[in-house]
Amino acid sequence: MSEIRNIVILTGAGISAESGVATFRGPGGLWEGHRVEDVCTPEALAHDSVLVHRFYDERRAKLASVEPNAAHVALARLDAEWPGELLLVTQNVDDLHERAGSRRLIHMHGELKSALCAACDARVPWTESLPPRSRCPACGAAELRPDVVFFGEMPYQMDAIDHALSEADLFVSIGTSGAVYPAAGFVRTARYHGAETLELNLERSEGSGWFAETRLGPAGNLVPAWVESLLG
Ligand code: APR
Repeated sequence: MSEIRNIVILTGAGISAESGVATFRGPGGLWEGHRVEDVCTPEALAHDSVLVHRFYDERRAKLASVEPNAAHVALARLDAEWPGELLLVTQNVDDLHERAGSRRLIHMHGELKSALCAACDARVPWTESLPPRSRCPACGAAELRPDVVFFGEMPYQMDAIDHALSEADLFVSIGTSGAVYPAAGFVRTARYHGAETLELNLERSEGSGWFAETRLGPAGNLVPAWVESLLG
């Protein structure tokens, strides 16, 4: 491997699986018989806001009973000790990366512990359940919704992510099925700019063919070993 200074890491639901957070696809991926693609949309929010809010309320409540696992902890150690540039981009809306201690972190699909005002765009810290038509503390409109990026909406901070990918020497993808864009395309952007590419996942993903190397296994084993090999 040529000299590595700038690292971009992408994580998905698989990194939180060993903490007990359900993944979206694969066994147990359905929620009350609904596909995630049918619940996490602006159309579903408009037509059945009770269902959509309940989906996220259940996930927000679950956070109180889960803890970061060895993979989150290893990435936090890398964040603290890596001397070069590092950006951790997560598709996850849980808070396990920050609870483990990661700081250089972007939640590209939003966060469960935040509410978004559809009227004024205020983002409000939120830890309880979020009933439909809750009032925005900033503007008073009864239009607070979960601060998550639905299918068809633009993920957060894409400019910063694209910039980091364009300068990356190494791109690592952990625990994601490679089914959802734009994140599924990051490996190609990184390769285009000359980065090494590594995938750590339980099984081969839709994107595996794009990575120079894929290591298969649980994130709780693979990620600490990879971090150890980088930091020595
Ligand atoms: N260690 C590593 N990988 C794992 C583990 C584990 N312990 N358990 C499962 N995986 C892998 C699965 O094999 C799968 O490839 O994690 C991946 C999880 O895939 P998804 O459930 O599709 O999750 P993700 O890729 O994060 O989904 C992307 O889709 O619904 C949207 O917005 C939602 O951010 C989410 C996006």
